Amino acid sequence: MAYYQHPLDVTALPSWQALQTHRASLQNFNMREAFSTDPERFSKLSLSSCGIFLDYSKNLINQETRELLVNLAQETGLAQSIRALFDGEPINASEARPALHTALRRPIGDKVLVDGVDVMPEVQRVLHQMTEVVGSIHDGLWRGYTEKPITDVVNIGIGGSFLGPQLVSEALLPFAQRGVRCHYLANIDGSEFHELSAKLRAETTLFIVSSKSFSTLETLKNAQAARRWYLAQGGSEAQLYRHFIAVSSNREAAVAFGIHEENIFPMWDWVGGRYSLWSAIGLPIAMSIGMSNFKELLSGAYSMDEHFQSAPFEDNMPVLLALLGIWYGNFWDAQSQAILPYDHYLRNITKHLQQLDMESNGKRVRQDGSPVSCATGPVIWGGVGCNGQHAYHQLLHQGTQLIPADFIVPVVSYNPVADHHQWLYANCLSQSQALMLGKSRAEAEAELRAKGMNEEQVQFLAPHKVIPGNRPSNTLVLERISPRRLGALVAMYEHKVFVQSAIWGINAFDQWGVELGKELGKGVYQRLTGDEQQPAEDPSTQGLIDYFRGRHRG
Ligand code: F6P
Repeated sequence: MAYYQHPLDVTALPSWQALQTHRASLQNFNMREAFSTDPERFSKLSLSSCGIFLDYSKNLINQETRELLVNLAQETGLAQSIRALFDGEPINASEARPALHTALRRPIGDKVLVDGVDVMPEVQRVLHQMTEVVGSIHDGLWRGYTEKPITDVVNIGIGGSFLGPQLVSEALLPFAQRGVRCHYLANIDGSEFHELSAKLRAETTLFIVSSKSFSTLETLKNAQAARRWYLAQGGSEAQLYRHFIAVSSNREAAVAFGIHEENIFPMWDWVGGRYSLWSAIGLPIAMSIGMSNFKELLSGAYSMDEHFQSAPFEDNMPVLLALLGIWYGNFWDAQSQAILPYDHYLRNITKHLQQLDMESNGKRVRQDGSPVSCATGPVIWGGVGCNGQHAYHQLLHQGTQLIPADFIVPVVSYNPVADHHQWLYANCLSQSQALMLGKSRAEAEAELRAKGMNEEQVQFLAPHKVIPGNRPSNTLVLERISPRRLGALVAMYEHKVFVQSAIWGINAFDQWGVELGKELGKGVYQRLTGDEQQPAEDPSTQGLIDYFRGRHRG
């Protein structure tokens, strides 16, 4: 059995115990003081790689913390885990598979073996297949049933077959090719289909049915709805191949749906759904930005792969971010992590990272099935700034929980409007600054007195005005959003999640927890339709079924 099926109990390691002792010694650590006693703190705790600048100086750490965290990574055999990931070892033990999304961004000429077979020629073949279809759409050679060129591409997919492609194609809108609009249809909610189809013309629309398994309920229902709509609009079965293509590892099911063999782009079981935007699942990205930009995205991710494999842990972006997450989650009881992009185009990154992190590391047993003895993946939440400042940042500043935050911001805007971008950038920086500095009781009182308040008013208001500060954040600065830098950024978070899973000894690449809801969903559906007469497993669910049925009868 491989070592990753016998993971260590990380909490029993000497480096873990050392971190616990160190944590106790930092009980009164104060970031303001740390900056004033060490003028070099910013330069010591920041680094740049792959077009991304990371400032992690606003954290509850000193240099010793970093050393101890790096010791933990070393003691858990992280270097060996990283090698196993890139070498295609079956690190997804519960599904007996490798997790080889990194192969998808390797340059031509590299070799990656899965079961003794080099997968790289097939990866290159699919990229070529993508180039052909994207080129023919962009050149207007791919025609719909009335011989008009395609103007709209609709990606029908959910989870990893939606979130990554949506993030990237929308983040790279400034790189979009003229003439083709990309849309996403994910949820089974008919309103989503209704709203989208109202904007489309069947004769100029191409649907990509994007599903690794080709068995996902939401995707299949939407694909069927799209086919009915296409036929109702005047399309014919014979011309269906001009309007429906698929990306799937389940070729037979795609063919059974009516997709032509040559219009099916393969996927492989060694690529997890939430890591699949680099594969043909990224077809809508390529439709939007073109293949040369898509390849730039891949090479940006590859540059991060190189950095991740070669940089010493203390200078390694994904490793440092992962260790900081472990520091707060396991030693400061933080239960969530905010992702705060200050860029309209990056607004969907929080949703993508939610799936990436929570579906990967929302686990409670280790690779060998034994229970973990520490907290694992945090709740990922957040959204675009400045909007969040006027909504949930209050809790970050004065709530009772410690919530580490990642701020992400570009230096240059694609759409400068007066001084808006300077203000946006300033707001991003001032939020992390406010989280760190806070406002002391003395400062709050002085401020109120300066406004001319009497002492009674000062004493009443001061506690409400105190902001504890000392709240941690990272700031990730990109010069501007480009395919290359975005590729590196997304890959950086993939590796961050992997490092955490490796240290906790859990499997980041399976997702058994989502299955139960799917199974029970079938029974609930059959009771709603009356096909199943037996009551549901519990009275609450049965009561809600009865309520629905009662309303539909009435
Ligand atoms: O239900 C979870 C999940 O399997 C995700 O892991 C995946 O990204 C999503 O559903 C979609 O799966 P598919 O691409 O097979 O339709």
